Order: sequence, then structure tokens, then C-alpha cells
Amino acid sequence: MRQKFVAGNWKMFTNAASARQLAAGVVAGVTDDRVQVLVCPPYPYLGLVAETLKGSKVLLGGQNCWYAAEGAFTGETSPAMLVDVGCQYVILGHSERRRIMGEPSELINKKLRAALAQGLKTIVCAGETLPEREANQAFAVVEQQLTVSLAGFPREHLDKLVLAYEPVWAIGTGRNASPAQAQEMHAFLRGKVTATVGAAYAESCQILYGGSVKPENAKELMSQDDVDGVLVGGASLKADQFLAIYQAAL
Ligand code: PGA
Repeated sequence: MRQKFVAGNWKMFTNAASARQLAAGVVAGVTDDRVQVLVCPPYPYLGLVAETLKGSKVLLGGQNCWYAAEGAFTGETSPAMLVDVGCQYVILGHSERRRIMGEPSELINKKLRAALAQGLKTIVCAGETLPEREANQAFAVVEQQLTVSLAGFPREHLDKLVLAYEPVWAIGTGRNASPAQAQEMHAFLRGKVTATVGAAYAESCQILYGGSVKPENAKELMSQDDVDGVLVGGASLKADQFLAIYQAAL
């Protein structure tokens, strides 16, 4: 059985005080380790959130990283730095980074290798735009993004891979994919994972859904066979909403 996973992506929100308060609120409500819970604050608050999470069941992740170990990369953060401040996870290939910052899948692949080499677990995202879905290209687009992003994935690190299906048209729009649409894509992805690395691993691989996940829709989304959890943006910024989503996963 795959463990359910509820991850919060705080994006570029919070300040020091509200980040600490939000993290403390999440910690107070996460009492059961049947569900994995992760929060991904902005870089400047990782350290203080790490302190707040100490001794709790809540995991810490970065929203991005760079691929070099260190060097002249102004403004970037290495995987080792994320580990150093207490992260266990990093999100890679979020659609905002793909589209707004122009990150191609080849770059995500380099970041992925670097993150794995430092021992980070990785949440690799993919998702189609609305025109792509309407042109019946959703499956091809997601497959292409993941094929390139995961190229040459080191088998010894398979336990550090989590996939996230995040349709661009569902992110921050209030319009979530229907449970059936999510299930269809997740089953497709698990099938691809089976074909690439085998059924045994595919059965254990967590595949998260992201895009307008709310307390109201979380349970139905996560009740789909291949939806192993959720990656939550907006609703992760309020402890009560995020905790309601966590409760829905129990
Ligand atoms: P949302 O964002 O929940 O605000 O739609 C999801 C995400 O971008 O991970």
C-alpha cells in the first residue's frame, strides 16, 4: 500500500512571522503518521520553519534548487544547502518555473540528479495547459515532460521519486481536475512507470495531484486508486484548510 502524501507549496507567500505561525499550526494538527505531510516555504524562511518543525512529524522541502554543488550562480540555492537547513524534499519542474522562469525539462533533469546525489527526495511535476488538453495532447505533453525530466534516472534512487500531475489550467484557478480526469492521468503515468522500470516499483511510486485542491474536493480526489496524495498551493497557506485536507487523507 502506498502511503498518502499531503504537500503544501507556499510559493512566494508568507513572511517570517506568518511562516512560523503557519508551520506551528500545521505541527499542532498533524498527529498521525499514516499520512506523510510536507511543507515547502520560501527559501528565506526554511531555517525558521525547520526550527518550528523540530520533533514533529511534518517534513520540510524546498520549492526549487540549482544543479551545481556550489559556485558563481548568483541568486541560486544548491541541494546541499537545502539539506543543510533541514530539508528532506525538493519540488522540481513546477509549472510556474517551467512557464514563468522558462525552465526546460533538460534543466529539471540536471537539478533532479543533483538533488538525488545530495540525498533529497524529489517531487517532479508535469502538467498540460488548457489548449493542450483541448487539443487532446494532455497525455503526450505530460509524458514528454516526464520522459525528459527523468531521463537516466538512477535506479538506486527510485525510492526518492514522487511524481505530481498538475494540470496548468487547474493551478490557482479554482477549477480542479475532476477525480476521473486525475485518475485517468495518474493511471496512465503508473502504466508508463511500469513499462519503464517495472510493476514492483510502479506499485510503490506515489503520484500526487495538484491544482485547486481544497478541503471540499480533497477526499474524492484522493479516493481514486492512483491518486496517492495532493500538492496544495493556495489552501496550504491556511493551517485549518491544510489540516482539513490532511484529515481527508486519513
Ligand atoms: P493551487 O496550486 O492549489 O493554488 O492551485 C497548486 C500548485 O501549484 O502546486
